[in-house]
Amino acid sequence: MGELMTGLKRSHMCGNITEALAGKEVTIMGWVQKRRDLGQLIFIAVRDRSGIVQAVVDQTAEKELFEKAETIRSEFVVAITGTVALRTPENINENMKTGKIEINVKALRILSESETPPFQVEENINVNDELRLKYRYIDLRRPNILKNIVLRNNITHIVRDFFNKEGFLEIETPMLTKSTPEGARDYLVPSRVHPGNFYALPQSPQLFKQLLMVSGMDRYFQIARCFRDEDLRADRQPEFTQIDMELSFIDIDDIIDINERLIKRLFKEAINVDIQIPFKRMTWKEGMERFGSDKPDIRFGMELKNISDIVKETEFAVFKNALDAGGSVRAICVEGSGKMPRKQIDQLVEFVKTYRAKGLAWIVVNDDNTIKSQIAKFFTDEKMREIVNFVSAKPGDIIFICADKNKIVFDALGALRLEMAKRLSLTKNDDYKFLWITEFPMFEWSEDENRWVAEHHPFTSPMDEDIELLTKDPGSVRAKAYDMVLNGVELGGGSIRIHKSDIQAKIFELLGFSDEEAYSKFGFLLNAFKYGVPPHGGLAFGLDRIAMLMSGASTIRDVIAFPKVKDAACLLTDAPNVVDKAQLDELCIALTETEN
Ligand code: AMO
Ligand code: AMP
Repeated sequence: MGELMTGLKRSHMCGNITEALAGKEVTIMGWVQKRRDLGQLIFIAVRDRSGIVQAVVDQTAEKELFEKAETIRSEFVVAITGTVALRTPENINENMKTGKIEINVKALRILSESETPPFQVEENINVNDELRLKYRYIDLRRPNILKNIVLRNNITHIVRDFFNKEGFLEIETPMLTKSTPEGARDYLVPSRVHPGNFYALPQSPQLFKQLLMVSGMDRYFQIARCFRDEDLRADRQPEFTQIDMELSFIDIDDIIDINERLIKRLFKEAINVDIQIPFKRMTWKEGMERFGSDKPDIRFGMELKNISDIVKETEFAVFKNALDAGGSVRAICVEGSGKMPRKQIDQLVEFVKTYRAKGLAWIVVNDDNTIKSQIAKFFTDEKMREIVNFVSAKPGDIIFICADKNKIVFDALGALRLEMAKRLSLTKNDDYKFLWITEFPMFEWSEDENRWVAEHHPFTSPMDEDIELLTKDPGSVRAKAYDMVLNGVELGGGSIRIHKSDIQAKIFELLGFSDEEAYSKFGFLLNAFKYGVPPHGGLAFGLDRIAMLMSGASTIRDVIAFPKVKDAACLLTDAPNVVDKAQLDELCIALTETEN
């Protein structure tokens, strides 16, 4: 199949051979990008991780060497020894780092052969995702995906150095553990030794990092693998990596400060982008009111406007019913889109319906400043003009209005705002707009479960000034929780934790846990808190999301070496898979239902 490495030593990586080495002998090893045969001359482009260099075998070469060169195909693995020579001016390739030189081949070894690859190893080739992921090891040879993997390496390197200098200890926490309450389903691992019992893979290291604070570790970080059985999206994978941290004897500002400095350094050193700190801070409420989102993209305006007061006297049933039910009527103004065809408007109405909105009203301000709207008949001209003025619409603009429960209005208009920005190309990938969202609500009412659920997790501390509301009005209690948001993506989130047992007990009670349940789930943490717990708090970033935004990738799949696809399957290994009956028997597992 291939020749041996005996007696061979690589002297240079392909991408590093430049005119400074002219006249020198070098030995390179790598994959054949392409062989071009010009009869008298054979060009072999050789690629390794660092780049591509051109080697040449000419007619003065020994017959055996020439013939061997002729057998070479794409993706063969070769070792080439030769002399670096300057290219003649007409042959210089300015687009290639090594484009001013070539290597005159003296010796060639074919270290291994390759079948014709399922797709060319080139940037911007049109290959479907399934094929790329099935042959991920070949896909990873492509420069644009390789670049992301290198970036990811650089990020973790900088993160480790940063935390090390700030006095953090890197500590690993268990993978085989007990369920952690981050709100997704757990991946379970059956225990052979304890039949009928299961470990859960961690959704985050949350409980262990809090235990480490009880242990006096003071400052902890970890680049931690987390597992969540939830629906996949462009920025979600079932297993992903957090940059996780926890600190003792601190308050929110300390955590915000340290993480701003981390991000500033990361962006500077990994992609040479200067980030201004401190970041803007916005309360959750303001985020919802202005952008309809708890992770607002603030690269563009198109803010939501509450027009409830203007339309409150209306007899228009759609608005009236929403207001009577305690909801609101809100609007966004899309500049310059007044000429949007009716068909497109209808599409947008369907679009907001996927966010449970019942409909979408619109008002167009024509170029001659007259007003056109399907709801004009329900309002006086003055009222229409009042709405137009309130949302600062100018001739040529279109206003979209949604009336419903607040949550639905925010979701629908928040999503519509993003959709319009996408259609109008209002954002640039390399315009990095960071902000913190603070003062999250502690609880969210779950209609399904008919109880309060924790918005972050049950160890998050309420804000001091809201503690008395815990009994009176849990829905309005704000948490000492914060998210870092970049361009509409939640990069990370964290909180100050509860370290007082009476408050923790109250929270569990509100969440509907009995003492018994709380102890059976988190007893180890509650017990630990009996033995001296420092005030503490922390945060976790999604490493994959940071790498995605830094690289300009549109999905975190492109920054993960071996990602999973939508149904959480791995196309490369075919996991998940059926297992032997013997294995199941050993685990005392009987399947109730299988596909085949
Ligand atoms: P949280 O659940 O907000 O907080 O997660 C922190 C960050 O992890 C990233 N993330 C994900 N990335 C990819 N795929 C996923 N499925 C996924 N889920 C989450 C996000 C998110 O902001 N223990 C707390 C942190 C703390 O309180 O200190 C936690 O896990 O970028
Ligand atoms: P209807 O009375 O349901 O025919 O609605 C009258 C107009 O109001 C239609 O053009 C709908 O698109 C619009 N509309 C319906 N529901 C809503 C809503 N929840 N918010 C805003 N506009 C709506």
